[in-house]
Amino acid sequence: MTKIKKVHARQVFDSRGNPTVEAEITLNNNIKASSIVPSGASTGAFEAHELRDNDKNYFLGKSVLKAVKNVNSVISEKIIGQDPNNQKNIDEILLNLDGTNNKKNLGANSLLAVSIAVRKASIILNNETYLNSNKTFSLPYPLMNIINGGAHADNDLNIQEFMIRPDSAKNFMDAIEKCFLVIQNLKKILKSKKFLTNVGDEGGFAPSLNSNEETLNFIVDAIEKSKLKPGLDISICLDVAANELIDDKGNYSIQSSNHETVDNVIKYYQNIVSKYPIKSIEDPFAEEDWNAWSKLTSAIGKNVQVVGDDLFVTNEKRLTKGIEGKSANSILVKVNQIGTLTETLNVIELAQKNNFSSVISHRSGDSEDTFIADLAVMTNSSQIKTGSLARSERVAKYNRLLRIEEELGNKAKMNIL
Ligand code: PGA
Ligand code: ZN
Repeated sequence: MTKIKKVHARQVFDSRGNPTVEAEITLNNNIKASSIVPSGASTGAFEAHELRDNDKNYFLGKSVLKAVKNVNSVISEKIIGQDPNNQKNIDEILLNLDGTNNKKNLGANSLLAVSIAVRKASIILNNETYLNSNKTFSLPYPLMNIINGGAHADNDLNIQEFMIRPDSAKNFMDAIEKCFLVIQNLKKILKSKKFLTNVGDEGGFAPSLNSNEETLNFIVDAIEKSKLKPGLDISICLDVAANELIDDKGNYSIQSSNHETVDNVIKYYQNIVSKYPIKSIEDPFAEEDWNAWSKLTSAIGKNVQVVGDDLFVTNEKRLTKGIEGKSANSILVKVNQIGTLTETLNVIELAQKNNFSSVISHRSGDSEDTFIADLAVMTNSSQIKTGSLARSERVAKYNRLLRIEEELGNKAKMNIL
């Protein structure tokens, strides 16, 4: 039987230049695979723990040498000799070794690097391809981040991400072309209005805009200049990241510095959804404001995707609560919010069984690792959110999906929205 011969971690760097963990698995037939852990900026309070060294004199406290050491000592000791095809067993060992609810003992970054590297090794070992599988696969629709605000930019926009989704795309290359056209036209529009067109962490523009409506108008303009139909060819998706916008009284500043009650915010969302081709809103309220979420989902959830990111943090218990309370109708999936592949797959399965869509997502600090592109296809997820068509760590995921589309040949089709 093929066994895991070696588990080795090292400190490498993410797209923001911050230290992160890479783990490399070697099998006894010398097959090797590795995985790099991403890192967020607007992280939810209920995410699994990201272990950093907090030594102010080394990488400003951000180094991950403790997590690296955890992999190279306790984790490697237990994982060596195991079957790389038994992912459940691997992840159970990792969870037991950590022994805490939120992975604060060994760090979700150390567990995840190993968990995913093992899965990659088993894919190579079994020569698993999409084509030689007896399952059918489809490509996810990309949610491309085109304008940044909130914690992802230094402008006065409070909504964190304005994204586009190419709903009428016939295939993945067509999806990319439609997004490409809108991005290029948006760039021209911004330039003509003398805004800067430098890109932010996720590759979208971060012009010094301060009004949601002005931003939405620019996007609609860019869609029309691309000779595409807003709402039919391209819809707009928002990530409000409202955790960052709630005050002590439970009011929100969704636009400018106004602080509005939950009921007024719901009216505001209803208003912009009726005026603009907005088909998806992520984190419209903060992570503990469950009632507000349920109210909004009952008000607009029939026509609009309401996505829980910080609300669910890829966690089965929190998703179960959200399903029971009808708090949303979609889940954002980030592997490092939970820390093992098995838990990630379980949460996606639970979501899909309950008619929640699953949107596989990058982090604002990401890397050349393209596993999430495969994760989206393997799990039949309808959407992937992995930044704009800019910055190699983002484009790498889209390129991986194009390769998968090519591999599938005439069996390739788009998922269903
Ligand atoms: P993060 O942002 O990776 O900084 O958390 C992405 C998101 O909020 O979806
Ligand atoms: Zn989010």
